Amino acid sequence: MKIAIGSDHGGYNLKEEVRGWLEGNGYETEDFGTFSPSSCDYPDIAFAVAKAVAEGRMEKGILICGTGIGMSIAANKVPGVRAALCGDTFSARAAREHNDANVLALGERVTGRGLALEIVKVWIDSKFSGGRHQKRVEKLMSIEK
Ligand code: RB5
Repeated sequence: MKIAIGSDHGGYNLKEEVRGWLEGNGYETEDFGTFSPSSCDYPDIAFAVAKAVAEGRMEKGILICGTGIGMSIAANKVPGVRAALCGDTFSARAAREHNDANVLALGERVTGRGLALEIVKVWIDSKFSGGRHQKRVEKLMSIEK
């Protein structure tokens, strides 16, 4: 599974932690930046990661900013992306099972490192349930047309 990862300066430290965890656990990653704690604009990174996921170059994406809010708003503007901002593992599981979320957004200034890594693990391991959720996701995507 290829996972795109990106952050702005507000999510830089957690991005490095999450990327390290992913690589240490055998996941292939591509880091879309930012590559230092210097200030940058989260929509630039969100767009690059979201586009890679929407075009199928990456299976999933993880975006981190201070709150996760800016990243999730920006990513959800790219057709084909279903980005979910998660601050707990229950939501992370439901985001995959119910919403087939292909991008996870996290907030470094909100969610501690330990919980954030648990959220990432649960989100990656959970699968879309289909069934009654299938037509709801189809309706969601039809809004883009
Ligand atoms: C940067 O200060 C901060 O606004 C950004 O990381 C993010 O929280 C935006 O939603």
